[in-house]
Amino acid sequence: MLDTSAAIHPENASHRTQSHTGVQLGNITHIKELDQALLLVGSHFNLAITSVDAGVVRLKTYRGQAPNWNTTPAIIAAEGRTPQSITWTETDVQVSVTIGKTRLEISRITGAISIRNEAHPTVEMVSLQRNREAIGDYTAFISLAEDDHIYGLGEKTGFLDKRGERYTMWNSDVYAPHVPEMEALYQSIPFLTVLNQGRSYGLFLDNPGKTVFDMRTYANSAMLQTWTGEFDLYWIEGPTLKEVIVRYGDLTGRMPLPPKWALGYHQSRYSYMDEKEVLELAHNFREKEIPCDVIHLDIHYMNGYRVFTFDENRFPNPERMMEELRSLGFHIVPIVDPGVKKDPMYAVYMEGVDGDFYCKTAEGDIYTGPVWPGESAFPDFTESRVREWWQEKQRFYTDLGIDGIWNDMNEPAIFNETKTMDVNVIHGNEGDRKTHGEVHNLYGMCMSQASYEGLKALLDGKRPFVLTRAGYSGIQRYAAVWTGDNRSFWEHMSMAMPMVLNLGMSGVPFAGPDIGGFAHHTSGELLARWTQMGVFFPYVRNHSAIDTLRQEPWSFGEEIEQICQQYIGLRYQWMPYLYHWFYEASKTGLPVMRPLVLEYPHDPQVYNLCDQFLVGDSVIIAPIYRPNTEWRSVYLPEGEWVDYWSGERYAGKQHIHVHAPLAKLPMYVRAGAIWLEGPIRQHAEEIAADEHVTASVYVQGAGTSSTLEWYEDDGLTFAYEQGQWNKMLIQVTESERDITITSKYTNYGYEPKRTSLNFRLLGISAVPTGVAGAGDQVPLEQLAAQTTGWAYDTARGVLVVKLQENSAGHELSITL
Ligand code: GLC
Repeated sequence: MLDTSAAIHPENASHRTQSHTGVQLGNITHIKELDQALLLVGSHFNLAITSVDAGVVRLKTYRGQAPNWNTTPAIIAAEGRTPQSITWTETDVQVSVTIGKTRLEISRITGAISIRNEAHPTVEMVSLQRNREAIGDYTAFISLAEDDHIYGLGEKTGFLDKRGERYTMWNSDVYAPHVPEMEALYQSIPFLTVLNQGRSYGLFLDNPGKTVFDMRTYANSAMLQTWTGEFDLYWIEGPTLKEVIVRYGDLTGRMPLPPKWALGYHQSRYSYMDEKEVLELAHNFREKEIPCDVIHLDIHYMNGYRVFTFDENRFPNPERMMEELRSLGFHIVPIVDPGVKKDPMYAVYMEGVDGDFYCKTAEGDIYTGPVWPGESAFPDFTESRVREWWQEKQRFYTDLGIDGIWNDMNEPAIFNETKTMDVNVIHGNEGDRKTHGEVHNLYGMCMSQASYEGLKALLDGKRPFVLTRAGYSGIQRYAAVWTGDNRSFWEHMSMAMPMVLNLGMSGVPFAGPDIGGFAHHTSGELLARWTQMGVFFPYVRNHSAIDTLRQEPWSFGEEIEQICQQYIGLRYQWMPYLYHWFYEASKTGLPVMRPLVLEYPHDPQVYNLCDQFLVGDSVIIAPIYRPNTEWRSVYLPEGEWVDYWSGERYAGKQHIHVHAPLAKLPMYVRAGAIWLEGPIRQHAEEIAADEHVTASVYVQGAGTSSTLEWYEDDGLTFAYEQGQWNKMLIQVTESERDITITSKYTNYGYEPKRTSLNFRLLGISAVPTGVAGAGDQVPLEQLAAQTTGWAYDTARGVLVVKLQENSAGHELSITL
């Protein structure tokens, strides 16, 4: 990007918004059925239609005799899919296709395709055309109603609703600020959902080359364009937003349950320069009692930036360092970039040469390009034999007790004019050779796949953690995503909300930005506000660039340190609740961090609301994201909402004006919610002095009931796959005279380490006349010393009950 007015020189103007002069499907000359698909043979290209699963229809252009139904690695092989049968009729002007309750109508004259289903907004693909000049360049126009809203599309700048935006899917290393006109960032997820008055459908354009989604240029339509390959579109039925996301997850897979330590706080810096600095950092956290699970090692740990090495001067004894860190309860996550330094004296490089593992030019030479280590070669991760090599290479780290890897620069980023690999480089792609231009967006995901599978094979039953910058649809199966090189700008703090919310709506629940901002210099105030917000994101890492002001939690004096400590502590207290929602995400694909529109899709106030968000389905977090600001407006949707700090109750469907001095993050819990917390720990595996879980019940009034089926397991291994997990059903029923609470295990496969299970009932206005099943009433201050009993906190209107952990469950009856 030119950074002077020369950027807008008339000769630099792009003509991309001009109308397209492609050819339509053309006259459909022939219709045939083949392998449960319907093939429409047009005069310019052909279209195949098939049912992938109930609620998922695939439309794919093709040339030649028959379509190639191969998919990209985005789509998982899955058992239990139930493709629906296809019936069709034709007239001179139209082909009508019925798949389940869905009807497709294809005009034989214009090629327009409509997908109708009573439960859904109709999809009108008014045109699908192929550009005459560039082979494989398809353009489709989808009509949009005035009140259609668009979500998803992965990691993009801008606000929540993507209507009115234009994006390119081309994984890009964008060091320039992530401003709204940046059409491409590191991830490419060509999947969107359209919401119209609460009803929704999804479109997934499975093409890992460059694609464009333009919801801006044409007033009443969205343009979807591919630059290479075929137009391979999945229409995904709703009718709710949640159902679309669940179905998209059925297609592209789900996040495996991460280890709990990966949900903890991560501290990073480009770079912690040597062993001494890393150990000091670790001790600082423990001495200051700021919880932390992970320290990241950026590129300086390596010998000349050669992957799978340590710099012997900076890190003379990694074994010893790892042992000390382990004893303090830290995990180390080292950075591993794809570029392998071209150096015949470097064994890893030569292994790749000998094994024929690197990407090559069409003429068969190893392709190289400059990255941190200088001229480097790039493993061809589209090939399983190359991934296997890379998997085995992870042993270098796992032998040291490392169980997490940070994959960066995997767009791949290359320090050249185009910022990436030559598009004419050839990928083996398991025998189906492709140019880099055709599969560019897969590179990062295939690399993370190799890292994840390698760690998994080597970790002896422990769950791996992989963090990635680049990815494509399906990346959730292998890695968490951080949103790359943001800056220490207030604007980037607030943009992180819609960015990560839309990642969540695109199948990627485990994501977060560099807290405090990566480039530029943070301030104490920005760090405090960003940490408050960031600890409620799914992924929590503070990371900053070389030469920027330090931004560890203690870098700006005591007040800021205390705020960071308090909120990082909350992250750990909330771990049982967060972990429960991670489990839900691993099962359903629905995000942990949710935009309000996901829960309240009929409420027009929330269509583009993205300066507040939900954790799970019942806690609203409303950060302050401007400097010198102590007040903000918060929208509370339908229901009743309880101020987390004061217990004050508010009716929903209103904006409230909230005071939030620096130490306060506005938080609201939905009345009726059951929400869980445990003790503060210094790291996820630490056994706390007071091992308990407290279920907070936000009472909501007579005649109501609420439930939570709470999941837990060891948080560390895959033993849950062998049944070592628990689900506890907590049920609350409220009447005029009493409240009953029952808790019982519906699955008991894992023995929890806690000694007590507590209940807190918030919103009880007077001392209950009796609490059956809870032992004796004691003064509040004495409850901690009791094994069972109950106390009433008059000042806050909270009933606290302490019970012993017990696999048989509990029954409480509170007489009001
Ligand atoms: C890239 C990464 C950043 C990292 C730096 C050095 O800019 O995005 O997180 O610190 O490279 O490795």
